[in-house]
Amino acid sequence: TAALVLGEDQLRLEKFMYGPAVERDDVLEHDSYFCGLFGLGGIYTVIRSKCNVTVEEWGDQYCLLGPYKEHQARTEIEPFEYPEGSVFHAVVSSLREQGWKVVTGRWLVDGNPQIILFDVGSASWKMNEMKDELWNLAGIGIPNPDVECNDAVVFGYMVAEFLQQFRNRLPEFTDGPPRMVAHFHEWLAGVGLILARLRKIDLATVFTTHATLLGRFLCAGNTDFYNNLPYFNIDEEAGKRQIYHRYCMERASTHLCHTFTTVSEITGLEAEHLLKRKPDIVTPNGLNVKKFSALHEFQNLHALSKAKINDFVRGHFYGHFDFNLDKTLYFFIAGRYEFGNKGADIFIESLSRLNHYLKSSGSDVTVVAFMIFPTKTNNFNVESLRGHAVTKTLKDSIEDIQKKIGSRMFEICMTGRLPESTELLTREDNVRLKRCIYSMQRSCLPPITTHNVVNDGEDPVLRSLRRCHLFNDKSDRVKVVFHPEFLSHTNPLLGMDYEEFVRGCHMGVFPSYYEPWGYTPAECTVMGIPSMTTNLSGFGCFMSEHIADPMSYGIYIVDRRSIGLEDSIRELAKYMYDFTRLNRRQRIIQRNRTERLSDLLDWRNLGIYYRRARQLALHAVYPEMAVSEEHGGRMSYPRPLSEPPSPTTSRSTTPAPSEIGSDDEVDDEEELLELAIKDDQ
Ligand code: UDP
Ligand code: G6P
Ligand code: GLC
Repeated sequence: TAALVLGEDQLRLEKFMYGPAVERDDVLEHDSYFCGLFGLGGIYTVIRSKCNVTVEEWGDQYCLLGPYKEHQARTEIEPFEYPEGSVFHAVVSSLREQGWKVVTGRWLVDGNPQIILFDVGSASWKMNEMKDELWNLAGIGIPNPDVECNDAVVFGYMVAEFLQQFRNRLPEFTDGPPRMVAHFHEWLAGVGLILARLRKIDLATVFTTHATLLGRFLCAGNTDFYNNLPYFNIDEEAGKRQIYHRYCMERASTHLCHTFTTVSEITGLEAEHLLKRKPDIVTPNGLNVKKFSALHEFQNLHALSKAKINDFVRGHFYGHFDFNLDKTLYFFIAGRYEFGNKGADIFIESLSRLNHYLKSSGSDVTVVAFMIFPTKTNNFNVESLRGHAVTKTLKDSIEDIQKKIGSRMFEICMTGRLPESTELLTREDNVRLKRCIYSMQRSCLPPITTHNVVNDGEDPVLRSLRRCHLFNDKSDRVKVVFHPEFLSHTNPLLGMDYEEFVRGCHMGVFPSYYEPWGYTPAECTVMGIPSMTTNLSGFGCFMSEHIADPMSYGIYIVDRRSIGLEDSIRELAKYMYDFTRLNRRQRIIQRNRTERLSDLLDWRNLGIYYRRARQLALHAVYPEMAVSEEHGGRMSYPRPLSEPPSPTTSRSTTPAPSEIGSDDEVDDEEELLELAIKDDQ
């Protein structure tokens, strides 16, 4: 039997992606890359969510390799030591004898895969030697000040050493032919691959790129990227941005691997021009989809999470809380703070149009738009905290008064008569309530951000909100909240994790310009929350390839490819406006439809592409190993038979009032089920 190790050398590495706010004209600064959090971002989601299906396929022949970070390892890893007599034990012991710190355990994610973490610090005393080897073998020189690349070299070196020793010792522990395949993600993990290949270690390699360095930079730099793809002078562009050595690592990894993959066709095209290799196969990103036993459980979760967001909104807009929460819709954009690449620029611009449409059409709907992008802050601002404090005081006072009313009522009833209303709510109670209401008056408008943003005057979101006059004025039908920190349940204002927050919203808006895949709309989909994406995102292209009419399934794809910026903004505003005209019943039907797309995004269906990538690499090194004929099954999502839930403005130009269905509350479980089933037919 063949012994296989699948090494996916990615953990910390997407940290790079948590870059600073990137404005169109910015050139990224290396040092500020380190502002991100471990374990957030799309690449991390790929690797974590894929474990379950990969472990099902490979069991303990699958092992992840990554850099050791004490804090994360403590919470995410259950340590264990390999028993003597296994190849893992032999190799890990030998590396530890060199003085390297190597931590072994199981990653506490679905599938519980084995994981081996290398402490870069324990081997960095040898860094110069390692860099010499990289220079001598590959001609890639890493400048000393690029700390992140230095780490990547040490980590890559440790991985290559592990793979080499593993391969050398494997025959002692297996009867079958010793075969290995290692899968490397993204350029930061590439050094391990480059060294493994140049040292001629006998193993098959796969390299997946989740973006290209230059693509990300060029798009962030106000370039007409897609129309100029074939014409960039790549060496010069990389040099100008001081990323030439990084680019070399990426390009060398791309060319040295046996199988090269990208996460979408659009990134494949980009790779063909900027890295000069077409992907051998596209490996679209999936999710570990969990089905609830009750068909409409996700609808209940929406209502529960929305109630929490309602609480936040009451606090944030105190004193100006004159809109009806029952007629309020929550939109959001979230991700790494790449202002232009993630489409925050056109989101804000479109929100201001939406505000105008809603006002001029006399709509009674209010949209609260959340922008969640981490940036540097000096904590929450006083106004936000005060809002939550005063609403809490009111809530507590009312609860207290309620209790007292209860006991007064009891005492009076015990005397055999009914209480008068004046006996229940005393003068003191009234004064107490008045005081609360008085303290809830505010002379300023509700803040557009929850935090003190360090670079307030330069911050791209704040600047755009100000430029578009989105100030949370009473007359505004679009209210905005910039939350410059990722969400967590320990957050004193919102107090919810990202997933919970998404479930409570009505629409995720991700109008990206540069988005190789884009997990955020995909995650919305499996939670049954409609989303907006673009035909420049891998996800958007994938969905339009598989679904006859994505919009009727709650996937709105904004054209950012064939029309100009102004038209894209208008289209996005129109989609949003159309959405505000759906009634509750229509939104519920749409959520049912959206959720039905989950299977399409499940690793159980998309894992096949990874399987094929490994087989192609194995076949290249061990030609006797066959590449199976299985192909990704095409799922069919025809246009739903029932009437589409979208009103017609996005299909024509003038807004018309929505005609379908009534705005009845659909709280009844049976009715919900019925709605779901009817729509299924
Ligand atoms: N994410 C998160 N918390 C947030 C916002 C985003 O954990 O407040 C995660 C989200 O779940 C998703 C990832 O960040 O898995 C973003 O991935 P995407 O592919 O959309 O973009 P990337 O950051 O990789 O470019
Ligand atoms: C879910 C719940 C319903 C609730 C509805 C609100 O479907 O199961 O009980 O009425 O959400 O939907 P909305 O789109 O108004 O937030
Ligand atoms: C990168 C891309 C993102 C993609 C993720 C996972 O971070 O920016 O679009 O979803 O990788 O492949």
